[in-house]
Amino acid sequence: MRGLNGKGVLVAGGATGIGAATVSRLAEEGANVVIGDRRLDVAEASAERISGATGAKVSAVGFDATDESSVATLVAEASARLGRLDALHYNVANLSEAVFEQDTDVVDIDLVVWEQTLAANLTGFVHTLRHAVPVLLAADSPAIVATSSDASFAGDAAKPAYAVSKAGINALVRHTASKWGKQGLRCNAVAPSLTLTEVALAENRPGWKEAVLERVRSTRLGDPADTAAMVAYLMSDDGIWINGQVIGVNGGMYFR
Ligand SMILES: NC(=O)c1ccc[n+]([C@@H]2O[C@H](COP(=O)([O-])OP(=O)(O)OC[C@H]3O[C@@H](n4cnc5c(N)ncnc54)[C@H](O)[C@@H]3O)[C@@H](O)[C@H]2O)c1
Repeated sequence: MRGLNGKGVLVAGGATGIGAATVSRLAEEGANVVIGDRRLDVAEASAERISGATGAKVSAVGFDATDESSVATLVAEASARLGRLDALHYNVANLSEAVFEQDTDVVDIDLVVWEQTLAANLTGFVHTLRHAVPVLLAADSPAIVATSSDASFAGDAAKPAYAVSKAGINALVRHTASKWGKQGLRCNAVAPSLTLTEVALAENRPGWKEAVLERVRSTRLGDPADTAAMVAYLMSDDGIWINGQVIGVNGGMYFR
């Protein structure tokens, strides 16, 4: 992909899964990356592995997306380590059992679960935009990519907090593209469907993969590298004419 070589990218929520795959892809394309994540030890291990495999400068910073001062420190630290900041991937979501699995329905849900979901998935993106946009505007061709989800469109009977948080991401991406597009900043989202991350692969409920595959208009389920490739494309000069879009990376599982 054109234009990623030598760029400085912050991947917020990049310790594992889709985020770590994105870090790998960006590093393969010649970008240097700072991974921000609540799980510093896991992020450091990923940074070391990816740096060793690609030769790119990849390091990790611990942060909590729900705490604005922690986000401010992350953005400042990433800019200092990279010597520049060209792009941001906001990939954080609270997928812990205590939160994600308790996101039942809007009548039943404990409001603490509602608030914790929105705090990490959506308000964390607000915090990150508030601190990263002013820095990114100084770059030549800055780009932001957020991770949304097909859940933001699907209208599922469960997980309303998660769906609302991702619909909020879609709205913020369009707002950001409208507000700063004329200053050269692009902002898009990727919307994956079920993706075979480490967590998904560890799920051993019999038959679930086959059941999902039946709903996908494709020959296989999604891999983190599929979404990572789209994130890299949207950050690259090849994606220069794409702004304010939410792009499904879902093997045709949903159409819209
Ligand atoms: N895996 C899927 O099937 C799928 C499908 C659609 C969308 N997504 C989205 O993709 C993104 C990545 O998901 P994943 O499946 O790779 O899971 P993941 O758990 O590997 O990634 C989420 C990351 O966010 C970090 N995080 C959580 N709360 C945080 C906080 N408060 N501050 C800082 N970091 C925090 C986690 O430590 C983790 O590294 C998420 O936004 C998720 O909603 C995933």
